[in-house]
Amino acid sequence: MKLCIIGSGYVGLVSGACFAEVGHHVICVDNDARKVEMLRAGGIPIYEPGLEEIVKRNVASGRLEFTTSTEEGVDGSEIVFIAVPTPPQADGSVDLSYIEKVAREIAGVLKEYRVIVDKSTVPVKTGEKVADTIRRYNKAGADFDVVSNPEFLREGCAVPDLMNPDRVVIGGNSERAIALMRRVYEPFMAPVIVTDINSAELIKHAANSFLALKISYINAVAQVCEASGADVEKVADGIGSDKRIGRNFLNAGIGYGGSCFPKDIAAFIAISDQLGVPFNLLKEVQRINRTQRDRFLAKIREALWVLKDKKIAVWGITFKPDTDDVRTSVAVDVINDLLKEGAHVTAYDPKGMEKAVEFKLIDGAKLASSPLEAAQGAEALIVATEWKEFDSVDLAELKAAMHTPLIFDGRNLLDPERVRGFGFTYLSVGRS
Ligand code: UGA
Repeated sequence: MKLCIIGSGYVGLVSGACFAEVGHHVICVDNDARKVEMLRAGGIPIYEPGLEEIVKRNVASGRLEFTTSTEEGVDGSEIVFIAVPTPPQADGSVDLSYIEKVAREIAGVLKEYRVIVDKSTVPVKTGEKVADTIRRYNKAGADFDVVSNPEFLREGCAVPDLMNPDRVVIGGNSERAIALMRRVYEPFMAPVIVTDINSAELIKHAANSFLALKISYINAVAQVCEASGADVEKVADGIGSDKRIGRNFLNAGIGYGGSCFPKDIAAFIAISDQLGVPFNLLKEVQRINRTQRDRFLAKIREALWVLKDKKIAVWGITFKPDTDDVRTSVAVDVINDLLKEGAHVTAYDPKGMEKAVEFKLIDGAKLASSPLEAAQGAEALIVATEWKEFDSVDLAELKAAMHTPLIFDGRNLLDPERVRGFGFTYLSVGRS
């Protein structure tokens, strides 16, 4: 099939590449000419395991193209996916101006029937507004349908998530559009859930909020574990082995971050408020998430007494492992909290340092070229992101490098017994 994807960010680029990989012809539209040039040359602007090879292979085969022209994309495709950013506003609601602008642009060049698909994460009822906008701005009076097709990929494993989805959600009110969408996903052989547009939009917000709720739940349990001497890892294993609950997303730590959960939970709260059904449970999820970081910092303060002029090493800058994404990262917040209190921070991250520098996120912190270099002379070490690499650092060498053998593990990455066996004082989350 011939597909057009507008917006070559995370979702747009991974979706476009994977659609091409299964045999569709994909044209990706982006208004950033430099990005388009880079992609045409086989380069990719983000780090995502497996993506570069797929982009290169499909650009070479001619199945994946890039352009800055919306008209070229819309003219040459049966289905047009909108995958542009939906950033948060100060009150938590979503800035839908990019979606609205793209809807107008599509309307301006729409000459014959197309399915317009909303792939960006949007609040419920956005599809209705997209349809109204296209109708209003399409002078040619061309026929079209709007469909919601939310994305469930995780950064760091976006390619396997897209190639082997748990489910595909297609929300639409037209049989013709749904039949075309089914054909897009046929090669993926995944269960397809067909709903109305509003339900599909809600599925995305409700899924992310539920996962965040699971994390805040286990983080609240971790607080009780600390107060009672229990071990949150054992509690998580015990409750997670119940199939109705599941062990995934029950890892306690310093809280969730990233470009999705914080924004989507705030947006779900905002749209629920607007609809007159305040979602107070989710406000508590947000509160617990903030508390986790505060409690962690309190632990560090308690052990070091004064943070001013203390040499502190931080392992991890990205919001989670296997990504270079440093947006809304709790690790970044922790580093800045320490800097604010006058600590001398040296950080190391396997993939996130370039972007942290580019976006000036941790100005004032030094960067090291390895975990051991970061720990040199440190009076404390903080594990802020659970990269596997950190778990394989030689603990004898680490102890020799540090001034004081003190570790605060914000992600429960290291094995407490092993670490203590090497003579470290080790504090983690929810493990006595
Ligand atoms: C999340 C969802 O998992 C995807 O299904 C969804 O498609 C995506 O948002 C999106 O809306 O685009 P992502 O933000 O890439 O994906 O990252 P996750 O793996 O979900 O992790 C989010 C945060 O939760 C990270 O900061 C991670 O460290 C934290 N987390 C995760 C925990 O603290 N504990 C856990 O048990 C799991």
